[in-house]
Amino acid sequence: MIYVTRRELFSAAHRLFNPNFSDAENEKIYDKCNNEFGHGHNYVLEVTVCGEINPATGYLIDLKKLKKIIRENVIVFLDHKHLNYEVPFLKGIIPTSENLTLVIWNLLVKKIDEGKLFSVKLYETENNYFEYRGE
Ligand code: NI
Repeated sequence: MIYVTRRELFSAAHRLFNPNFSDAENEKIYDKCNNEFGHGHNYVLEVTVCGEINPATGYLIDLKKLKKIIRENVIVFLDHKHLNYEVPFLKGIIPTSENLTLVIWNLLVKKIDEGKLFSVKLYETENNYFEYRGE
């Protein structure tokens, strides 16, 4: 089994807020991330595909193809957007990185047709990252 990873970057704004909580509860839970006007992150997304090497090409998946799949299905919808307002598939979802990671997995899992999606990792800052493996 071989693992191939493509990294893509995007920048986006969000506000962490649950309309079912009071303002005080939102502030207590989300702290600075509850800022009424939002704030931004430079996200780093790492998508890993696993499988066997195709003996004819020597590839698991052509990285040009993986890059295109990620850009066309994820990046184009998220980059330079406000995640609370502008992204149809995030409607009604609190745009934490946990939720984003899961949503990105669901956007990609059926699009990978060579090997299979192994993990989606989303770095929100240098020190914090989130990972989903479909389990
Ligand atoms: Ni944030």
